[in-house]
Amino acid sequence: MHLTKQEEHIYDGEFGWANQICIKTLVRLGELFNATRLIPISSAHVSGVSYKTLGDAPVDFLETLANTDVKVTVKATLNPQSLDEEHLCGKLPLNICQKQSGILKNFEKMGFTKSLTCTPYYLENPKKEAHLAWAESSAVVYANSVIGAWTNREGGLSALAAAIIGKTPDYGMHKVENREPKALVAMETQLQSEVEFGALGIFLGEIVEDKIPIMQGLQNASRDNLKQLGAALASTGMVNMFYHDGVNAKVNELEKISVDTKDIRRTIENMSTTSAQKPDLVFVGCPHCSLNEIKQIADLIGSRKVRDGMEFWVCTSRYIKEKAGKHVEKIEKSGGHVLTDTCAVVTWTDKLGIKTIMTNSAKTAHYAPTLNRAETIFAPLKECLNAVLKG
Ligand code: F3S
Repeated sequence: MHLTKQEEHIYDGEFGWANQICIKTLVRLGELFNATRLIPISSAHVSGVSYKTLGDAPVDFLETLANTDVKVTVKATLNPQSLDEEHLCGKLPLNICQKQSGILKNFEKMGFTKSLTCTPYYLENPKKEAHLAWAESSAVVYANSVIGAWTNREGGLSALAAAIIGKTPDYGMHKVENREPKALVAMETQLQSEVEFGALGIFLGEIVEDKIPIMQGLQNASRDNLKQLGAALASTGMVNMFYHDGVNAKVNELEKISVDTKDIRRTIENMSTTSAQKPDLVFVGCPHCSLNEIKQIADLIGSRKVRDGMEFWVCTSRYIKEKAGKHVEKIEKSGGHVLTDTCAVVTWTDKLGIKTIMTNSAKTAHYAPTLNRAETIFAPLKECLNAVLKG
């Protein structure tokens, strides 16, 4: 890999141990994928912030790195942590809250923005064709497919190294030739809800693996629906983007896949692990809710109240919660909680006594049986609200 003079100095340790280890991480990664250079990035987004998913091993490394006083050199944001200080900290064991707060302090010491969201694009939308180093898979697909920015699916460590060096190896989704569609998806059904978009993502992810699909005839492709599609696609597949319109692909050369009503219905059915209709928790906001989604939830609640013995969580970022003032008030008046900084998947719902989770998110329904050891019910927003609200 060709390094500039400045990069060579960093590589040789002239800018300290922390910078050296970061650039060595990026160079090693680039060599694995035959990159010939590092390229500047506009932003980095780091995953592995939740103590639940991070575990103990990387905590010492993070602390050692932060203690060198190394700083990020580009805009750098953080994925959700394992708790919401207001609602969950007091309910989880004290040592968990302490560990999590230590992790966060170290990230902040290095200059990371305390965004704690998987939707960093709501805080600041990257420019089209901007090169990024993002690690949250749902955000990666959204950035590449909906925003038109360019990012690989980074690991937590490579995104952290990229945030500090301000560069990423030039391979994969940063190269125009790797952004060509490889599979043509003929939609023989019209998707109506966010749940159906999520199911399409789960269904396709298993088929396309790492081949970029281009959808033909996809209706109702709002940004919120595409967010569900992308998050689900990245859950079952390794693909980092999709096209949903407007590409002049040479369709004859593409692998053909057709999707009909039965495929979507079967996928939705398979994603519920129980036929029980009484969840302990109804969780909406995976990926974190947009302002529009919060408004929609508040409008649908009306004057109804949360049923006794059930929890209702709506997860979003601090930034969106602040903007959604009156809608948040309405949700909380119903007995629901608008949580920030976390989500049901990256916190310990099992330690809170939650055995069954109902959600409109295909990504959560996919991961909750293993990561939360919970039964799942996968259903559209309206059904979720009817289950958790009286009247
Ligand atoms: Fe975000 Fe948690 Fe879903 S981090 S994408 S809300 S699993």
